Amino acid sequence: MDVREAVQTRFTCRAFRPTPVPLGKVADILRLAGRAPSGGNLQPWHVWALAGEALESLKAAVRAHTAAGQFFEGEIEYAIYPPDLKEPYAGRRFRNGEAFYTALGVARDDHEGRMRQVAANFELFGAPVGLFLAVDRSMGPPQWADLGIFLQTLMLAARAEGLDTAPLEAWSLWPKTVRAHLGMPEELMLFCAVALGHADLEAPVNQVRAERAPLEEFATFRGF
Ligand SMILES: Cc1cc2nc3c(=O)[nH]c(=O)nc-3n(C[C@H](O)[C@H](O)[C@H](O)COP(=O)(O)O)c2cc1C
Repeated sequence: MDVREAVQTRFTCRAFRPTPVPLGKVADILRLAGRAPSGGNLQPWHVWALAGEALESLKAAVRAHTAAGQFFEGEIEYAIYPPDLKEPYAGRRFRNGEAFYTALGVARDDHEGRMRQVAANFELFGAPVGLFLAVDRSMGPPQWADLGIFLQTLMLAARAEGLDTAPLEAWSLWPKTVRAHLGMPEELMLFCAVALGHADLEAPVNQVRAERAPLEEFATFRGF
């Protein structure tokens, strides 16, 4: 698979098959992702890869809360979105949510249905592998950008192995639980989880392909 195909076929998979992914494959993907560039070659990413019982016990710890209607634990580590998300970003976020809730058959006023989908984030949508990405708290925006480059590289590396992914910042709402399960030092901040596995391509939610702004909306060309 070439890079163009990997980019075009990557999507946020929200329903996985339970087929396991061997450790060797996960290690290969992470090793390749480690080739991602970073300012000053700091390589500021830290990753925990969980499967089997290690993943199940972490999911169970969060499930105990989500089943009781609690979707985050106390103080949050970072604001996922700016407090007053402006246009065009707010509209894009709204349309994105509507697209996949429509695919799931969950109406706007179906609070329970929406909460079920939020809870599904913490089941990693049934993926057999969960990757947990963290960055040192002393790092600033440039290193967070590096982390994003690493994240995309690993998602493309997964495509090259025929695997699918879902990056999940929803997991940043459970920093204490995740830290306790992973033995993650306090100096690291949990950025997100990444669900990794084989997509269930029949699932309605996986039929959605998020829209993108046309090139002219985000790029300016001069002097060609
Ligand atoms: C860093 C990051 C975190 C994300 N967190 C979540 C999440 O918690 N839950 C979710 O359903 N989607 C999450 N997404 C997926 C985005 O909604 C998705 O990337 C966007 O709508 C574009 O769709 P696509 O990935 O299918 O192209 C996240 C994406 C990124 C890059």
